[in-house]
Amino acid sequence: MSRTLGVLISGRGSNLQAILDAIERGDLDARIGVVISNVSGAAGLARAEKASVPTAVLSHQDYGSREAFDEALLERLDESEVDLVCLAGFMRILSPVLVRAFPNRILNIHPSLLPAFTGLHAQRQAVAHGVKLSGCTVHLVDEELDHGPIVLQSAVHVDDQDDEDTLAARILEQEHALYPKAIQLVLDGRVVIEGRRARIS
Ligand code: GRF
Repeated sequence: MSRTLGVLISGRGSNLQAILDAIERGDLDARIGVVISNVSGAAGLARAEKASVPTAVLSHQDYGSREAFDEALLERLDESEVDLVCLAGFMRILSPVLVRAFPNRILNIHPSLLPAFTGLHAQRQAVAHGVKLSGCTVHLVDEELDHGPIVLQSAVHVDDQDDEDTLAARILEQEHALYPKAIQLVLDGRVVIEGRRARIS
């Protein structure tokens, strides 16, 4: 696989920044062809601009259906000849239109040890449930939410004093280290899918 990433964001973009930094350091052998946000003014867009990466804003509200929005995303990703799509805090559920266009070539990062605590507010769910370990997961995206084959995970302890915010901060540190590593593994063809298992060769 060649090495052009498309990064989809909705907000802060700290994972985008971690990817940019890993590229800059030479730890991730890739380029970002485009950063697309579905939210205009998302802080992550400024991070991309600062790194001279092309950006686009495509608001889901401008499209009549999830599929129509995904067609527009697809068109923009193709325009930049993107090989691998990285969801980095992208707060939209993808339709089969996009998932099937990039089979096993869409990654997501989720702030829990999947399959625990899918969906929104994973860190709040973890604290409320009283788990002693949580963490983050990078997985390939399939047609179900937070579900596809797991590429890498990193665990953190949940302390008695933790609230959603302190746990999120500790997990986020792990996210920033984990995501570039997982991207590199996929780009190097080292992630072999066997059923729902992703074996690292
Ligand atoms: C991260 O916690 C990520 O795991 C989740 O959304 C958050 C995005 O944060 N999917 P950021 O925009 O990358 O800072």
